[in-house]
Amino acid sequence: MSRTDENLKIAFANESQTNVEYLAYAHQAMEEGLMEMAQLFREAAGAEIVHALSHLKVMGVVKSTKENLREAAEGESLEILSMYPKFIEEAESEGREEAANSFRIAFEREKHHRSMFQQALKHMG
Ligand SMILES: [Fe+2]
Ligand SMILES: [Fe+2]
Repeated sequence: MSRTDENLKIAFANESQTNVEYLAYAHQAMEEGLMEMAQLFREAAGAEIVHALSHLKVMGVVKSTKENLREAAEGESLEILSMYPKFIEEAESEGREEAANSFRIAFEREKHHRSMFQQALKHMG
């Protein structure tokens, strides 16, 4: 992988993460009754999505819908089979119940996502 390919991966991850953080900051600003600050975070969050999508396009990650469904089902499978079970176990062993719960909630939903993608794949033939 070239330096630029590595940089695209890093930039994509950072922009995606920043988008979610800004949305969370907007939510917090609204709870504090600071609507203009919420608006500022939301607008910036929107721009970060544009940056992330642009990087993703250059990376060639987006393929045909059939290939995307297969890729998505595999990604969900990875989370279900290895990532979340390991994370839940480790959080429990460290007494991090809040983290374990957050992982558990996501883990349960990923099963639903995977089956939706698999059904859609079947539907496409
Ligand atoms: Fe950005
Ligand atoms: Fe998912």
